[in-house]
Amino acid sequence: MYSNLVVLNYHQKSIIMSLRLGDKAPNFKAKTSEGEIDFYEYLGDSWGVLFSHPGDYTPVCTTELGKTAALKDEFTKRNVKVLALSVDSVESHHGWIQDINETQGVEVNFPIIADEDRKISEAYDMIHPNASVNATVRSLFIIGPDKTVKLIITYPASTGRNFQEILRVIDSLQLTANYSVATPADWKEGEDVVVVPAIKTEDISAKFPKGFTLVKPYLRLTPQPNK
Ligand code: BEZ
Repeated sequence: MYSNLVVLNYHQKSIIMSLRLGDKAPNFKAKTSEGEIDFYEYLGDSWGVLFSHPGDYTPVCTTELGKTAALKDEFTKRNVKVLALSVDSVESHHGWIQDINETQGVEVNFPIIADEDRKISEAYDMIHPNASVNATVRSLFIIGPDKTVKLIITYPASTGRNFQEILRVIDSLQLTANYSVATPADWKEGEDVVVVPAIKTEDISAKFPKGFTLVKPYLRLTPQPNK
């Protein structure tokens, strides 16, 4: 019994352990295109989106950072602060930001971390050596006001992320945090939502004055509460 069990020491564990949903997001200090920041101080009481990209002066990343800048009002409306990261230098970021502004018709309006020593990339498991040993993949973390990790997605370098999907997930997470509802498959703003299983059917009416539809005892739909 247990003959194949390998007991790892602390160092080995810390190498292979990655962040998971519900974990505390590691705090860090970083050089960025907007000066030095302390991550937690930067976030304050806001939600956060921390996302990595493979490198400056690359085509897909240029469109992604342009899209993020263009969506500033959408992030602000949701009380979300955004922070990008690559392992390039601050000087490189400054030069590239001019290109993003010029080609994407935006003003980059959020900090880009220069993680040259890769400490943050490692803490957030953003380097996947079998994909690339020297660049971060497209990792994205949504962090709640309590500084815990609410969502992790990882895309390959060659696929630009869908930022409408990021906003949609933020809306879903905030609905769950504020109203005890979940969102069904392909849910979009304004559509019915799901009452979380923790709420008993007999308690729904008091909590959701817009009413509800009992599809099955375990599937109860209600109009989006904040509409
Ligand atoms: C990029 O634009 O970041 C990229 C595009 C294709 C492959 C790898 C990276």
